[in-house]
Amino acid sequence: MSSPALAALSALPQAELKTIFTSDPDRLSKFTLRQGPIRFDWSKTHLTSELLDGFLKLAEEKGFAEQRDALFAGEAVNNTEGRAAEHPAERGEGNPDSVARAKMFHSRMRALIDAIEAEALGAIRHILHIGIGGSALGPDLIIDALDGDGARYDVAIVSNVDGTALEKAFSRFDPAATLIAVASKTFTTTETMLNAASAINWMVEAGVEDPYGRVIALTASPEKAIEWGVDETRILPFSESVGGRYSLWSSIGFPAALALGWDAFESLLEGAAAMDRHFRLAEPKANAPLIAAFVDQYYARVLGCQTRALFAYDERLRLLPSYLQQLEMESNGKSVTRDGAPADGPTAPITWGGVGTDAQHAVFQLLHQGTVLTPVEFIASIEPGHALDPAHHRALLVNCFAQGAALMKGKENEADPARAYPGNRPSTTILLEDVTPDVLGGLIAFYEHRTFANAVLMGINPFDQFGVELGKEIARSIEAEGPKGFDPSTMALIELALGGA
Ligand code: F6P
Repeated sequence: MSSPALAALSALPQAELKTIFTSDPDRLSKFTLRQGPIRFDWSKTHLTSELLDGFLKLAEEKGFAEQRDALFAGEAVNNTEGRAAEHPAERGEGNPDSVARAKMFHSRMRALIDAIEAEALGAIRHILHIGIGGSALGPDLIIDALDGDGARYDVAIVSNVDGTALEKAFSRFDPAATLIAVASKTFTTTETMLNAASAINWMVEAGVEDPYGRVIALTASPEKAIEWGVDETRILPFSESVGGRYSLWSSIGFPAALALGWDAFESLLEGAAAMDRHFRLAEPKANAPLIAAFVDQYYARVLGCQTRALFAYDERLRLLPSYLQQLEMESNGKSVTRDGAPADGPTAPITWGGVGTDAQHAVFQLLHQGTVLTPVEFIASIEPGHALDPAHHRALLVNCFAQGAALMKGKENEADPARAYPGNRPSTTILLEDVTPDVLGGLIAFYEHRTFANAVLMGINPFDQFGVELGKEIARSIEAEGPKGFDPSTMALIELALGGA
């Protein structure tokens, strides 16, 4: 471990969670942060005031404040691609020129939404959103979480190149009343372009007169969308400096803005902007995303935990774990630092999770009694997302809080070890006032900044993703040249399933 601050805090003694509250009566207030409607409780972790001081030193050693300023100033923090990372500008925070540009793109998006609502493109009832990765996960999460009162349009988000996904959407939708949104930052992604072409064919076969006239392109490469056949007036651009997994705030959020209404979309942006301001201005020891990164760093880097688990005790947030998988793993799953040197220890752990209470009846056995230490994060909302008997929400929350307590407390049973719980297992709890657009915006921005803070503490660039390229390259070469020069296993698989082509 080459960082002196990290080495120093690795040498600090580890606290026992069972006694951690008795040894410091103020622990709860010291180890809980609130940012508007979001409360982050990290008191049930092994971090102590001493460890916190150590991490504050690490943040200083790594130039956290300077790098955060560089992010908001629109400097080229994505050094390997020579680009800024300007998702905060989409929320109105950051470099003034970039904020103005984002506002201009948002006005354009709003005008198109108004036109669609006024039926300028015909009587649209269905939105077929085609995109993958960051061009799908964000809108999917937002729409799924917030359309409780009935979205204004029926939206299908199709990402997989497996035609089954598209076919399912086709079976639900009337081609004559469907709008196709092709979402792709690059407008070259194989899956998206193949799905988009099939969607056009579906319309042609159904006799839709001008299928390309029903396509909206959401992209940072407008020229590619024009080449593909989309009219310039139906292209909603966004900046190259907005990364794919950080892009739901840009025109990639179009289906959410259309389905939920512009006010809801704006409120999502405002919630995120409030978190931006908190992250930019709060002093390090009261900075929620930075503190959360300290917790992540302690478990991943100091204790070597290879995974971190996340359970949404709220059905509205059921897609949050998969959204965060891309955000955290594509950002920080790296082996080299910003300057290309090998990372000085483990980087991002595997993010996984699910929803409570379902997960309790499936994977929690391992969390309570398995041999692998896994820091767990619980996310819950005080207000329910439904109007059923309050007993439902009460049971949900009681279970959520009981799990955190059980992981920490454990239970001895010398007579019957199979029924003993070691305890001393950490968890953090994010308690939301409700799941509304502004709260969700703030929550997602909290995770974005936490991911960035983790990257700074590890000295890596969270904004590139070269690791995804090699597989794509090989797939392209198989398509272009057939199976040549591969290992026997790959050759046999291609031969068996594709007949050698
Ligand atoms: O393959 C990874 C990736 O580049 C992601 O980073 C991105 O979100 C996704 O593919 C989709 O890319 P695009 O928006 O350019 O289609």
